[in-house]
Amino acid sequence: MKTILITGAGSGIGAATAQLLAKQKNTRLLLVGRNINKLNHVLDRLDNKESHLVAELDISQINKLESFLSGDEANLKEHPLVSVFANAGIGGSNVYHKSNIPKDRWNEIIDVNLSGTYYTCITSIPWLNEAKQKGYETRHIIVTSSILSRFGVPTQPAYVASKTGLLGLVRSMAIQYARDGILINAINPGWVNTEMARNRIQEMAEEEGGTYASMLEAQKQYVPTGKFSEPEEIAALVQFLFSNAQTSMTGQAIDINGGAWMS
Ligand SMILES: NC(=O)c1ccc[n+]([C@@H]2O[C@H](COP(=O)([O-])OP(=O)(O)OC[C@H]3O[C@@H](n4cnc5c(N)ncnc54)[C@H](OP(=O)(O)O)[C@@H]3O)[C@@H](O)[C@H]2O)c1
Repeated sequence: MKTILITGAGSGIGAATAQLLAKQKNTRLLLVGRNINKLNHVLDRLDNKESHLVAELDISQINKLESFLSGDEANLKEHPLVSVFANAGIGGSNVYHKSNIPKDRWNEIIDVNLSGTYYTCITSIPWLNEAKQKGYETRHIIVTSSILSRFGVPTQPAYVASKTGLLGLVRSMAIQYARDGILINAINPGWVNTEMARNRIQEMAEEEGGTYASMLEAQKQYVPTGKFSEPEEIAALVQFLFSNAQTSMTGQAIDINGGAWMS
């Protein structure tokens, strides 16, 4: 049985992707997040739930990732790691306070979104390489970036910088590992109907002194399709990219945003 690692699997896009990929034959999922209750809730609803494994760990701690992946529970020697969805992330504003620097969330957001995603990728590489010895020619990493890697928005320099940085991470690693047969791409969702988006809408409503409902409506109006994407749509894109239907796409940032940004 082959293994797929999904970080941020306890909710939203990661949970929807787990739901979809668990339906595939011969597939075992490693589901990572910081909250074991959320992960178990997702696990309980998966097809073949006894095949999959949940792990409570913070992706910004490289040692924890490393020991998890090389541990007996993950058992990647027997079940080769063929695909990685480096999807975990945190959102929200970060504001510099001269009088209270620790209140600024810059380090927290960069540590998780940029460093944590790098750690997820780099600790997976030896295992993806090992899978080649077991006959898996093409292996994949997909990183969840954001539409906010395409343009700036106020009050979120850390989030925008972290998601833009991920495109550089993907480009560099894609070239480095292309000849090994590891394809590395980013996806850039626009608004997706998840807890993170709902929290951000609430935060924006408070920043601008409006209501949640009016901010939600205003944000939908910015999207040409007039709606947010559903997490299942992002999951379907990930499944396609993992499918080996093509083996030529690497180092790319793939936009999925209802037309809210066009290259
Ligand atoms: N929703 C949108 O509109 C949107 C748009 C563009 C990009 N994205 C990106 O999509 C990805 C998934 O977000 P989502 O929308 O599905 O929101 P979500 O439901 O909040 O999912 C994010 C997941 O990441 C996990 N997580 C956060 N920090 C972590 C850490 N340090 N270690 C391990 N897991 C961690 C969270 O679980 P725990 O808190 O339990 O750890 C949570 O399950 C994120 O990278 C986000 O930036 C979202």
